[in-house]
Amino acid sequence: MPTQDFNDRMLSLGLARVSEAAALASAQWIGRGDEKAADQAAVNAMREQLNRLEIQGTVVIGEGERDEAPMLYIGEEVGTGQGPEVDIALDPLEGTTLTAKDMPNALTVITMGPRGSMLHAPDVYMEKLAVGPGFRPGVVTMDMSPSERVSALASAKGVSTHDITVCVLDRPRHEDMIESIRSTDAAVRLITDGDVAGIIHCAETARTGIDMYMGSGGAPEGVLAAGALKCMGGQMYAKLVFRDEDERGRARKAGVTNFDRVYTRDDLVTDDVIFAATGVTDGSVVAGIKREPGYFTTETILMRSKTGSVRRMTYRNPVSRSPTGQSS
Ligand code: FBP
Repeated sequence: MPTQDFNDRMLSLGLARVSEAAALASAQWIGRGDEKAADQAAVNAMREQLNRLEIQGTVVIGEGERDEAPMLYIGEEVGTGQGPEVDIALDPLEGTTLTAKDMPNALTVITMGPRGSMLHAPDVYMEKLAVGPGFRPGVVTMDMSPSERVSALASAKGVSTHDITVCVLDRPRHEDMIESIRSTDAAVRLITDGDVAGIIHCAETARTGIDMYMGSGGAPEGVLAAGALKCMGGQMYAKLVFRDEDERGRARKAGVTNFDRVYTRDDLVTDDVIFAATGVTDGSVVAGIKREPGYFTTETILMRSKTGSVRRMTYRNPVSRSPTGQSS
């Protein structure tokens, strides 16, 4: 039987439903101090909705290896088994700690593309560098020091370094980087978690106030962020970081042969994709879930790289229709 084309236009609304369902399921765990329960609720809901889509889907970025993650593991097949062959990168709850503590920028995230469209990133750290659209390719590079990147971006924007804001994960491993950025008089927006949102922020500087993202975080999250930037525009550079032989082994298993490679956005995501993220807690990318008597309201950003379309959709979900609050 000939395989069907990846109909990104038709599939995108289905993808938004998947992302919304995961957010709604995790809503009951916002601020309850239980990261695992919040994540599990999102995983269950995401999987259930994915299995309704008319796709032959394979999870390439998921919740972990088959033996350690019973659901949405890497290699798991999802969908009805009919329809196009697609690869899926997902994080049912990006920011489990943010959700447990009711802090900003927790999201549910999913990207889908034709088979072979995304790097099978191992679960190791990745050094990331991102800027929004409108700059010449290579305006900032992995070779530059953090302060050189700030200066290069400031001169490309025609502003002073004082007017540049860089988003960085607040981790001890980033202390030198933060010092180097601040030495230029640029501002640093520190985030406690959630670098997918951190990178998306660069594509909407007017809304978020962030010009550039840098620092290391999860490699799987790097592929998800590249999917978003492919839709919104913007540059991303990335390099896998290995702390020991076990992590190199993970990379080999995932098919990585060159451990020093600098990946561009389009190396991480090689074909057109669709991307959806729903806010769990309030953030600059999308609003978090709002509760009213009888309803939950979500906001989802839904994007297609083929057209560069970016939609923000609100969804009012009647709580009383089912035990989970989700209508079918
Ligand atoms: P979780 O959603 O799995 O909690 O991950 C959150 C996150 O902040 C990612 O956004 C980021 O890439 C990674 O963790 C950073 O890892 P670490 O906390 O080890 O620095």
